[in-house]
Amino acid sequence: MTRRTYYIETYGCQMNEHDSEKMAAMLDKLGMSAASAPDTAEVLIINTCSIREKAEHKVYSALGKFKSLKTRKPDTAIIVAGCVAQQEKNKLLKKVPHLDAVLGTHHISELPRILDKIRAKKSRITSTDFVEDVQSLHMVAPLKGANPVCSFVTIMQGCSNFCTYCVVPFTRGPEQSRHMDEILEEVTRLAGTGIREITLLGQNVNAYGKDLARGYAFADLLRHLDGIPGLARIRFTTSHPRDFDDSIIAAMTNLETVCEHIHLPLQSGSDSVLSAMHRGYSFAEYLAKVDSLRDSIPHVAITTDMIVGFPGETEADFMKTLEALERIRFDQIFSFKYSARPSTAAQSMPDHIPESVKIERLSRVHELQDQITEQYHRSAEGSVEEILAEGIRPQSSQVFGRTRTNKIVNLEDPDLICPGELVRVRITEGLKHSLRAVRAV
Ligand code: SAH
Ligand code: SF4
Ligand code: F3S
Repeated sequence: MTRRTYYIETYGCQMNEHDSEKMAAMLDKLGMSAASAPDTAEVLIINTCSIREKAEHKVYSALGKFKSLKTRKPDTAIIVAGCVAQQEKNKLLKKVPHLDAVLGTHHISELPRILDKIRAKKSRITSTDFVEDVQSLHMVAPLKGANPVCSFVTIMQGCSNFCTYCVVPFTRGPEQSRHMDEILEEVTRLAGTGIREITLLGQNVNAYGKDLARGYAFADLLRHLDGIPGLARIRFTTSHPRDFDDSIIAAMTNLETVCEHIHLPLQSGSDSVLSAMHRGYSFAEYLAKVDSLRDSIPHVAITTDMIVGFPGETEADFMKTLEALERIRFDQIFSFKYSARPSTAAQSMPDHIPESVKIERLSRVHELQDQITEQYHRSAEGSVEEILAEGIRPQSSQVFGRTRTNKIVNLEDPDLICPGELVRVRITEGLKHSLRAVRAV
C-alpha cells in the first residue's frame, strides 16, 4: 500500500523550516498530501533541533506522543530528521523502539528511497554521514514553500566556527557555500512564481564564498541578486560579527532590494566571555561595526542573540551585557540561558552557573530589552513605511506584513490589498510585539 498522507513536525531554526519545506515538496511530488494532524498521517516526520537541552527534550516528548499511535497503526512510518538525528545517529533507534528511520541533516533528499525501504520492511535505517560536496543537497529546493510571497534560499550549509557553546558544527557539518550560479537560478525561478522576498540562509552568511575557489564574496552575491525581475526584497541571516565588513555595509546601503535590517548575534557584552566563547571579536570591535553601519544607514534595524550564564560568567561580566544592550539599543533580541551541549568545548569548562542565577539574569535582560523594543515601536507611531503584504489573518481578516526593517505590521483597513503587494502605510500604534497601521494616503 502506498502511504498517501504525511505530517511534519518542525523544531528549531529557519534552516530546519526550510528543510521541512523541501521534504514536503518531495512527498507532494510522490503524490502524497499533508495531513492536518499526526493521527491521520501515514508518514510522520519529526524535524528536530538540539541547540539547547530544552529543544532536545521537546523531541523526545513528541516521540513519546507518537508511541501509542504506532501501536494502534503499526504501518505508520515514523522518521526523525534534523539536528538531533544527526547528533544521536544510531543511538536514537536504540532509544526509541517505535522509530523507523533516522535521517541526518545531509540526507533529506533520500527521503523517498527511505520510505520505500520502510515499506519493504527492510531493517530500520540510519543515514547520517556528512557528504563532502553539499551542492547536491539543494537539488530538492521546493518550487514554493509554505508562504506564497516570501521564500528561504539556502546559500551555505554547516558551520566551521566552533563557538565553544554551540552544537551546530557537529549537527550540520563544515561550512560550505553553494555555487553562485545555482543560487541565482533558484532565486530567478522563485521570483518567476511570484515570490517577492527571499531570505538567504546560512549559519554565517557573511563568510559566503570564502570556501569556494572562484573568489567571490557575500557582497558580490547580493549585487548579483539585486535586480532579478519581480524580486522586491532580500534579507539574510545569520551574520557573524567577525565577518561583517564594509563591503556588506556598502551593499546594504546601495542595493535597493537589500533590506535595512541585520541580525548580528553579539552573545555577550564581556570580552572575557566572548573570548571563552571563541567568537573572534571584542565588544569594541562589534560596536565599531554597528556604529559604522548606523553612519551609513541611520534607520537600520539591528537585532541580536544573547546568552546569559555562560560558564564562568561573573556578575561583572553580566553587567557588561546589560550595558551593551543599553549602549547599542537593539531593535529586538533573542536571549537564552546557556545550555551545555554534547561534543562542545564549553560543556567541560569549569564554573558552570547555577540555574537560579541564569534565570535571574535572563529576566533582567528581558526587562531591559522589553522597554527598549517598546520604545522603538512607540517612536514609529506616525511614520510612513513600506510593507510587503504577506497574508491575511484568518481570525481578524487583517492583512499583515513587515517593514523593510523587519517589524510586523497589522493593517487595520486591509481592503483591496493582495498578498505580494508593496503598500505604503502610516503606523498608528506601536505595541509590544508589533505595529498597527492604516494605508497611507
Ligand atoms: N549561526 C548563528 C546562530 C545559530 S544558533 C550565529 O552564529 O549567530 C542561534 C542562537 O542560539 C545563537 O546565536 C546563540 O545565541 C544561541 N545558542 C547556541 N548554542 C547555545 C547554547 N548551547 N546555549 C544557549 N544558547 C545557545
Ligand atoms: Fe554556532 Fe557559532 Fe556556528 Fe553560529 S557561528 S552556528 S553560534 S558555531
Ligand atoms: Fe537547531 Fe539545528 Fe537549527 S540545532 S537551531 S535546527 S541548525
